[in-house]
Amino acid sequence: MRIDAITLFPDMFGIVRDAGVTGRAHKQGIWSMQTWNPRDFTTDTHRTVDDRPYGGGPGMVMMAEPLIQAVCAIREDRARQHQPDAPVVLLSPTGRPFTQSVANSLAASTAGAAFVCGRYEGVDQRFIDQYVDEQWSLGDFVLSGGEIAAIAMIDATVRLMPGTLNHGDSSLQDSFQDSLSGLLDSPHFTRPEKLDSVAVPEVLMSGNHAHIARWRREQSLMLTLEKRPDLIEQARKKGLLSAADERFLTALKT
Ligand SMILES: C[S@@+](CC[C@H](N)C(=O)[O-])C[C@H]1O[C@@H](n2cnc3c(N)ncnc32)[C@H](O)[C@@H]1O
Repeated sequence: MRIDAITLFPDMFGIVRDAGVTGRAHKQGIWSMQTWNPRDFTTDTHRTVDDRPYGGGPGMVMMAEPLIQAVCAIREDRARQHQPDAPVVLLSPTGRPFTQSVANSLAASTAGAAFVCGRYEGVDQRFIDQYVDEQWSLGDFVLSGGEIAAIAMIDATVRLMPGTLNHGDSSLQDSFQDSLSGLLDSPHFTRPEKLDSVAVPEVLMSGNHAHIARWRREQSLMLTLEKRPDLIEQARKKGLLSAADERFLTALKT
């Protein structure tokens, strides 16, 4: 899968391209990444990419033309390399929330995405209307730029791609995954068996896989009910809770 990013700060992407599991997957060719600096598509000596907002007000706005040129350059480059065209995704607090399910879809796509990282007060609306296919938000807060949002989304996506994680199934046990009915993950323990007299839960030492699986499921249900009851409702609506799950939840409430 190929990821493109239009950004005024291309160096920031080193963190996902070079480090950790995403860095290893990049080296293995599981995904590739190319950055495009809007300043390289300007024609004036100052390489201007922003200007004052029409109508007044504080801050600056990213100009449409350098972004349009960058999108065209990505399309040409992909065509030259016989790679499919990718949706243009603007990072924006006004976009639709980026979730595990969006990450799963992106990980399964062959085209990848071309991320546009905004800065300043945002991007000229005419660019958005004519060139942007989707807008994704990292959450209900405002970052200084789209880079950190794009990097988070790339990381969340690449770790789901086959071959990225050492143990193929580990992402299946993650919070929000369908395989976990969209619930939160259960607690994890490792050595030592006793830490300041606090022992690892006995069931995890039992070797009884059915009991361990049931314990983990109940922990997930308990944590999710406490922290994210909305996810319990979603799982229920999708028919992902078993009769045993429902009995456990009822017992918890009494
Ligand atoms: C300072 S923000 C602009 C915020 C904009 N004036 C607003 O209130 O919606 C600059 C850029 O950071 C990025 N950004 C900020 N918060 C974000 C979020 N929660 N998710 C994704 N991108 C975000 C966007 O690309 C945005 O254009």
